Amino acid sequence: MPTRLGRYTLLGKLAQGGMAELFLAKSEGIEGFEKIVVLKRILPSFAEDEEFIELFVSEARLAAQLDHANIVHVHDIGRDGTDFFFTMEYLHGHDVRHLLNEARRREHRLPLKFVLAIVAGAAAGLHHAHKQVDFSGRPLGIVHRDISPPNILVSWNGEVKLTDFGLAKASTQLESTDPGVVKGKFAYLAPEAAHGESVDHRADIFAVGILAYEMLTGQRLFLADTDYDTVQNVRAAEIPSMRAVNPEIPAELEEIIRCSLSRDAKDRYQNASEFADDLLGFLFSRKLKVSARTLRTLLDDMRQKEPAPAPQPKPPEQGNVILRLIEEEFTTFKSIDEDSDAPELGSQPLDSLMAGNMPINYDPAAPLALDEFDVGPSSSPDNEPTPPPAASSSTTAPEGIQATLHSTGNHRVVPSGGGGRSMVPILAVLLLIAAGAGAAVYMLFLK
Ligand SMILES: Nc1ncnc2c1ncn2[C@@H]1O[C@H](COP(=O)(O)OP(=O)(O)O)[C@@H](O)[C@H]1O
Ligand SMILES: [Mg+2]
Repeated sequence: MPTRLGRYTLLGKLAQGGMAELFLAKSEGIEGFEKIVVLKRILPSFAEDEEFIELFVSEARLAAQLDHANIVHVHDIGRDGTDFFFTMEYLHGHDVRHLLNEARRREHRLPLKFVLAIVAGAAAGLHHAHKQVDFSGRPLGIVHRDISPPNILVSWNGEVKLTDFGLAKASTQLESTDPGVVKGKFAYLAPEAAHGESVDHRADIFAVGILAYEMLTGQRLFLADTDYDTVQNVRAAEIPSMRAVNPEIPAELEEIIRCSLSRDAKDRYQNASEFADDLLGFLFSRKLKVSARTLRTLLDDMRQKEPAPAPQPKPPEQGNVILRLIEEEFTTFKSIDEDSDAPELGSQPLDSLMAGNMPINYDPAAPLALDEFDVGPSSSPDNEPTPPPAASSSTTAPEGIQATLHSTGNHRVVPSGGGGRSMVPILAVLLLIAAGAGAAVYMLFLK
């Protein structure tokens, strides 16, 4: 992993997709100013491929034009040698895939108003992108084309933001020979895309409908065992009753979601803001208040219920106190190289990624582990990444051990920053003993 790209210091790997990798990075300014950002760089294996570079740069360029509370803000586009990258705001929280996985793990469904807040937020962000115009006021015809759970982020502060405009295109950029190229994850395609026809912003509305369906029922809508069957399901666009799966869904809400999932784009909501308005109207009619605070509270609740780390073995109580301290110190040290099963950097706790690099607004009380982003190489039919290892290094390693960021294969041992188990007190005790012994010998000689 490089340690710097342009004016950014890389702190740790956050995620890796098929075409790019994401890092947590820090930019520095005058007077100790520091800002934590997410840096997305094109994978070195694609860095020579002009088509990929063009796709990548157009993602950054397009996303940088969008300025909306429900869209991740892109700061900067850069190049360092052969590396192309862009930076964006860091959203400290989870993507919707994680929330769905977590709900599945607990055999719970996500609460209705929580789901609707996410869906309405995503729709509002999309509407902003869809209605973009150029300098002369002509619509740009932006379509995200990859609305799916990993591309919707929910922060611990209760914000909902869309990210990954990698497949997004303005209609002006779509080549006429390639209008309906089937891109994106098959299970989140719109029927017209699955038929190879050209798509417009209503394909994104369909994808948000799939998302709403899956979050409300806890079941996948179109995903099948093979890509072929998935695409066939999307083409047919048969929507099973949601209320049969989850009787808590009011009929009125099911109607709204079904409208977004109409097979024919003409029968869908014609713009994402109408969809968002209907969802908010539904919440209002039911006196269900949803705010960023609601989302925050629900996420906090989820965080508290996350599995507790395995208890650590206690050191023996008896015996010589100095020997015990030394023994304890040795058991808390571990070489990174010894741990061949250790997960990649991206799955280390945020605190260890930040060791010695504490950003100004970093909240150490928030125990989000980056492994919870769950990102790995794609494998399943709808291009979903493989799940992460069951336990992160922070739970399997003895308490107090954290791997460092800038390990470059050197055989390094690194004590934890905050555990208070440094060698210093032991050395101080040993030094005192040695000094005492030295003084005694000196006195003997004087006599
Ligand atoms: N700005 C961000 N802040 C925090 N996490 C992010 C951010 N952007 C992306 N992620 C996480 O990284 C993952 C991959 O990012 P994404 O841009 O979607 O890459 P890819 O093009 O490989 O799908 C997302 O699913 C999300 O979990
Ligand atoms: Mg993505």
